[in-house]
Amino acid sequence: MGKTILITGAAGYIGSHTCVCLLQAGWHIVAIDNLCNSSARAIERITELAGRDLRFYTLDVRDYAALSKLLQQESVSAVIHFAGLKSVADSVTRPLDYFDNNVCGSVSLLRALHQQGVRKLVFSSSATVYGHPQQVPIPESAALSVTNPYGRSKLMVEQILEDLAQSDHEWRIATLRYFNPAGAHESGRLGEDPRGEPGNLMPYLAQVAVGRREYLSVFGDDYPTPDGTGVRDYIHVMDLARGHLAALERLFSHSGNFTVNLGTGQGVSVLQAVAAFERASGKAIPKRIAPRRSGDVASCYALATAAQELLGWRAEKKLAQMCSDQWRWQHQNPEGY
Ligand code: NAD
Ligand code: UD1
Repeated sequence: MGKTILITGAAGYIGSHTCVCLLQAGWHIVAIDNLCNSSARAIERITELAGRDLRFYTLDVRDYAALSKLLQQESVSAVIHFAGLKSVADSVTRPLDYFDNNVCGSVSLLRALHQQGVRKLVFSSSATVYGHPQQVPIPESAALSVTNPYGRSKLMVEQILEDLAQSDHEWRIATLRYFNPAGAHESGRLGEDPRGEPGNLMPYLAQVAVGRREYLSVFGDDYPTPDGTGVRDYIHVMDLARGHLAALERLFSHSGNFTVNLGTGQGVSVLQAVAAFERASGKAIPKRIAPRRSGDVASCYALATAAQELLGWRAEKKLAQMCSDQWRWQHQNPEGY
């Protein structure tokens, strides 16, 4: 507490909510973002909501020289590394951009941290590293595989972190595999602001409800799931933010490295999500059944017990609240920030 944490990708969806959570818990923050998928307005709103300031720099994690200089100026005790590109579809058409940003960006950051003697890191990984899961709920010990360049970039960074930890036992690394982040800050002041057409279900539902999109395409209704549509583990972004706080606290109190799922452990189908969003928004959401999306899996939800045992953390907010918070954000900010 009272220590300074470097947050990369701080203006983004998960980063901005985590900043509020950390500031409210008393941590100091040095925030960086190159704003390639976010707005500096998010930074203003973080300080507005937390009632405290942070120091923000527009900086690309691949800029090793600038990063090193920053770390020389600021006394950073640990890092939460959110910065990266996250669209599966874009990663298929622009794989080099994804490896450059997600892999080279992480290596640049790790080199700068190593150079400055910073040895505590929380890394944003994803359930995407489970590829086509062989079992649900998915434990952390499940086989890992990739189905697209985005997933490969996340798995590569996980492997780089393992090698790094092996090479220097001073490192304390938390790898957090998020399931499906959803919702927004309950104030309606912070939320997800995707550029262009949303790739993910929740922001798409919100944009249909607010009238920015005509209808939702339901990607497949012939999966081996109870209603035939894809089943996922949606987790409220503020629960996810608290998960980072818990991981950070663990890094300061225990040596060693750990990897945990951050999910609720509950599977929700596309049709259940649509119904919940309709209830939360009071709007009918037109939908059309469309072909399956390439690379999608039928069912993906977490075994969420490890995070509870290790961190004393578990997701608390339910689907109804994810939808009402997402709706409040979308309704109050129809065009985003
Ligand atoms: P986001 O795009 O909202 O936030 C990422 C932020 O990183 C953006 O503000 C972007 O401008 C910034 N950024 C990108 N490249 C950068 C670079 N080279 N230097 C500095 N800043 C850079 O995404 P998010 O949903 O907040 O995701 C955060 C992290 O969590 C990502 O690493 C993502 O892969 C991972 N993740 C996200 C999800 C999800 O569904 N949202 C799921 C699993 C994992
Ligand atoms: C997607 C990515 C995954 C990434 C995750 C979080 C793919 C194949 N997978 O996961 O790698 O980690 O986002 O960023 O892109 N759906 C619709 N209509 C839509 C959008 C989605 O029916 O317009 C369905 C999907 O088929 C799926 C569910 O909604 O069954 C959730 O989709 P989405 O929000 O994109 O998340 P994931 O597929 O879990």
